[in-house]
Amino acid sequence: MTVTFPPGFLWGAATAAYQIEGAAREDGRTPSIWDTFCRTPSRVLGGDTGDTATDHYHRRHEDVRLMAELGLGAYRFSVSWPRVQPTGRGPASRRGLDFYRALVDDLLAHDIRPVLTLYHWDLPQELEDAGGWPARETALRFADYARLVGEALGDRVGLWTTLNEPWCSAFLGYASGVHAPGRTDDEAALRAAHHLNLAHGLGAQALRAVLPATAQLSVTLNAGAVRARTPDPADLDAQRRVDALATRIFTGPMLHGAYPADLLADTAGITTWSFVHDGDTDAIKHPLDALGINYYAPTVVSAPTDNRPGPSPWPGSHAVVFHQPPGKRTAMDWAVDPTGLYDLLTRFTAEVPGLPLLVTENGAAYDDKPDADGAVHDPERIAYLHAHLEAVLRALADGADVRGYFLWSLLDNFEWAYGYSKRFGMVYVDYATQARTPKSSARWYARVARTGRLTPS
Ligand code: FCB
Repeated sequence: MTVTFPPGFLWGAATAAYQIEGAAREDGRTPSIWDTFCRTPSRVLGGDTGDTATDHYHRRHEDVRLMAELGLGAYRFSVSWPRVQPTGRGPASRRGLDFYRALVDDLLAHDIRPVLTLYHWDLPQELEDAGGWPARETALRFADYARLVGEALGDRVGLWTTLNEPWCSAFLGYASGVHAPGRTDDEAALRAAHHLNLAHGLGAQALRAVLPATAQLSVTLNAGAVRARTPDPADLDAQRRVDALATRIFTGPMLHGAYPADLLADTAGITTWSFVHDGDTDAIKHPLDALGINYYAPTVVSAPTDNRPGPSPWPGSHAVVFHQPPGKRTAMDWAVDPTGLYDLLTRFTAEVPGLPLLVTENGAAYDDKPDADGAVHDPERIAYLHAHLEAVLRALADGADVRGYFLWSLLDNFEWAYGYSKRFGMVYVDYATQARTPKSSARWYARVARTGRLTPS
């Protein structure tokens, strides 16, 4: 098998505003649902917050220089909604936009292509107080916000992503409650999913109206690589159910203009879906230039052996049982299995021929520690990345149109409900001093990016 990536393949790293910026109360930024969630007892490990995070808001310049040293061709970041439109309504904050203008200018000056995500989970708290994603109004507010950012940065950002992983926003935020805003209401979660879909469609439409014709639009999904534990029809049915809730609830309307019939039937005991108005699915199916796939690990399911009540992120599927696949795990306890990435890339190539794909997140957390000399060696991360990039090469060889790969993450950062306990960075961050130390994986990745070739170490 070839070990060489095609010319022009984008090599990048990804981050998200709340996970790295800090400066939570500066320059007019108001609280997001994550600021509130972090202050609610027992929600986030160790009571950690994103107040300071990796202080990227003040270290932007240093961080861009680091990316340039590592030879990155692209940087995927997100804009903090409460920083650029503090109440979630009305005019943009000039100071908020200035930060992103400066960041983008810095990137361009270093020949690094900016890839901008509008929403990576930090809903302005005022919009949650007014109903949050279960309320239709939030989708309309998102379209306004998209237009404001599009007008401000459209002259210098060429690749735009509306939402990051709407599954997490809807189902971890409103069904299992392990993410902000921490609600546990299955019907609210399904409403949220629809309004996120609508936000994507209306946001894409708003961007199209203000961006230059050359700008490219995308969305990023954590499409589930869901497997049945056995080929038993009952287990295959569990797989179908979870695939509908994990993936097709988004790809149905976004890519094909309709919700899947089996999803509507599976969830009929929870909602009538009357919140889907005439014309919504047409609006959601806005033409896209690329689909972003985030992949970490596969999900293995089977039919119930018992019923386990309690909040779960799978409305109407309490009866499905989730299993840990055998084999190696990361510090998140997630299985290391690159075949899931291959499966997703080939699945979407077959499902939507002609739609370019980007791996917008892939990476692993390990318990990295500096050695006596201060160097951070992370051979397990190199092995993880190597195996997953090999899967991308296999998908390319089998006809998948994959245009780029973004390592999660540039820096160790605030890992949501896990606080600072999980390190995903290719650059180690000492949170006491904010010193950045590239791990050995960063040097390895820089070489892969420079040569376009996979080498074992
Ligand atoms: C993804 C998120 C990202 C990060 C990684 C580990 O689900 O998009 O912010 O937390 O997981």
